[in-house]
Amino acid sequence: MLDLSDSTFNKAMQLKHFLQFNDFSREEFENLFERARWIKREFKQYRRYWPLADRTLAMIFDKQSTRTRLSFEAGMQQLGGTAIYLSTKDTQLGRGEPVEDAARVISRMVDIVMIRTYEHDIIKRFAENSRVPVINGLTDEYHPCQIMGDIFTYIEKRGSISGKTVAWIGDSNNMCRTWLQAAEIFNFTVHVSTPPGYEVKPESAGLSGTDHYKEFTCPESAARNADLVTTDVWTSMGFEAETEARKNDFADFCVDSEMMAYAKDDALFMHCLPAHRGEEVAAAVIDGPQSVVWEEAENRLHTQKALMEYLLLGKI
Ligand code: CP
Ligand code: NVA
Repeated sequence: MLDLSDSTFNKAMQLKHFLQFNDFSREEFENLFERARWIKREFKQYRRYWPLADRTLAMIFDKQSTRTRLSFEAGMQQLGGTAIYLSTKDTQLGRGEPVEDAARVISRMVDIVMIRTYEHDIIKRFAENSRVPVINGLTDEYHPCQIMGDIFTYIEKRGSISGKTVAWIGDSNNMCRTWLQAAEIFNFTVHVSTPPGYEVKPESAGLSGTDHYKEFTCPESAARNADLVTTDVWTSMGFEAETEARKNDFADFCVDSEMMAYAKDDALFMHCLPAHRGEEVAAAVIDGPQSVVWEEAENRLHTQKALMEYLLLGKI
């Protein structure tokens, strides 16, 4: 009898998720970046590439988004597939349906799932019960798709990131933790400067050690000789109750022109966006010549298309 209990995909390939940056090896990222470069070139030439025709992506959002939603939805359509937006507010997930049950059902109806949520444990439990690949579109702990786009952008602009120094100024949040994982995989160093009380907790960053980052109390010292300076909002989604306290605590952690002057002359500035000019970054920096934030945002699209291609079709 014909067994229709699983997709042909699951039978032919080992199921793979992208929940943290270190779910992939350096070799896998290098292959992904090669595919992203090709996919980007084809897209810019208006050449049709529809390897995911008839495939469906479910995008589950528990937090707001502009870039992540748009890049996944447009990306899936550009690869010939369909994307469905689900908000936890409008689904039974918002009324307490167990995440395990939702995963079992949703993954019988679509080919791939992207989730943006709060605790990382939620996406882990979803993935454990999913028949199809699951992608982390941001959790409280990690933002791997963003760092994939950021490293792709760095390589496009400056070549290999191995051996380079990235200065992280601000909160040791989901972006910071993901940079730290990436540093282990790509062999670069992160100089982290956070206000007192907001330091990195290596045990909760999924790191294999502390060799690839150094902590600085003074943000200018962290920026000294950096090849890339990067920051993020003082208050991430889900931490809004701390906004006022954080404004006070992070007051000296604004990446301005004086801070950028400590970095190398050809240093780049990155920010995952959305940004708050006058808080974590000065307008002169984010809108200045060293900033690559718009390319960084665009590269979410190209790298995530390569990611979906890889998770669904394997190495091309
Ligand atoms: N950088 C990023 O993930 O942006 P969104 O919150 O708009 O998706
Ligand atoms: N650290 C930010 C990133 C937003 C894309 C947040 O989690 O809100």
